[in-house]
Amino acid sequence: MQAHAPVPPRTLFLDTHDVARLIGILGLPACLRGLAGTLRADYLRWPEFDKEARIAAYSEQGTIELMPITDGTHYSFKCVNGHPGNGRHGLPTVMAMGALLDCDTGMIRLLGELTLTTALRTAAMSALAAQALARRDSHSMALIGNGAQSDFQALAFACLMGIRDLRLYDVDRGASERLARNLAAADLPGRPLSVRICESAAQAIRGADVVTTVTAFQGRARVLDAGLVEPGMHLNAVGGDCPGKTELDPAILRRADVFVEFPPQTRKEGEIQQMPADFPVTELWRVLAGDAPGRTRADQVTLFDSVGFALEDYSALRFLQAQAEAHRVGTWVDVTPGQSDPRDLYGWLLGELQDVPALVS
Ligand SMILES: NC(=O)c1ccc[n+]([C@@H]2O[C@H](COP(=O)([O-])OP(=O)(O)OC[C@H]3O[C@@H](n4cnc5c(N)ncnc54)[C@H](O)[C@@H]3O)[C@@H](O)[C@H]2O)c1
Repeated sequence: MQAHAPVPPRTLFLDTHDVARLIGILGLPACLRGLAGTLRADYLRWPEFDKEARIAAYSEQGTIELMPITDGTHYSFKCVNGHPGNGRHGLPTVMAMGALLDCDTGMIRLLGELTLTTALRTAAMSALAAQALARRDSHSMALIGNGAQSDFQALAFACLMGIRDLRLYDVDRGASERLARNLAAADLPGRPLSVRICESAAQAIRGADVVTTVTAFQGRARVLDAGLVEPGMHLNAVGGDCPGKTELDPAILRRADVFVEFPPQTRKEGEIQQMPADFPVTELWRVLAGDAPGRTRADQVTLFDSVGFALEDYSALRFLQAQAEAHRVGTWVDVTPGQSDPRDLYGWLLGELQDVPALVS
């Protein structure tokens, strides 16, 4: 008799169409809200996670990163790239895949696309940080960099922060026009979005309550000069996310109160890589937990120096798993061979090869 029933070794696989279908079933606003709620709940469990800065392979063209994390019950990782010149090859700047495993057995529970999911989780994370850091009466946002991530940032801030006035700027006007068209077609509850394409970053930023920078440039960019930053602004800096790749004038960092995900990673990859190693920052999870102040004055400049942390992909994978199982979306695949005797892997192979006898010789 077997001591243990074999664990059904099937893995749920979610491709881009599955994730799009889930978004269709839930509706994008509910999906962003659900994701932000999951991110918040997991950030409040911060001490339970075994955390490390991501492991990166750098080249002149971009970065490929591996982002593992575990809470002792589940283990997740994402493999993601950032190649700002990928448009030349007809490829997106950012592409990702990831997996969720059980710690007790190592069984791979979920395997899936994380490209669309990264855009969603990054936007939900930005809005979650802004809920804690931006002025409560914020209603306008400048969105600098109008590529693949930008629609999701705009919609997350509209759905979760009540932003209704969007000013767009991109060095490529065609990118802003595409974004404006997509936003005009978006079906959002509440007041309609007002969307204006601007001629410069300065024009977009003037008078904005929130400024989101989400550009892609493989080098030290100056998307935002310190002179443009006004008292009370919240800055959501998303595009500077690896060594040598930043968006902000360092003078802004000296002027703002800076909030980060995981300091050992952000000091290497974020805007604060431009500052000394002891530059003061506050971990966002402490603000969410009520352990550290966020915004304390209406005229304070706050900055979320976002680089993207493995915990956010863990949350996104768990959210996807729950929703996909509830709505029966995805395909069960055999990533692990399902032999009845777990030690007889070769016997399982022989069984498979019965259908192709020519290969057995
Ligand atoms: N922090 C995070 O968690 C996170 C997650 C995903 C992506 N990112 C980063 O976000 C950035 C944007 O990603 P994407 O997928 O939207 O890239 P993308 O290539 O699709 O779009 C980038 C846009 O930025 C514009 N741009 C470049 N330099 C500019 C400048 N100086 N001023 C205005 N616009 C400028 C480009 O014309 C392009 O339209 C990337 O740098 C990526 O690495 C960060």
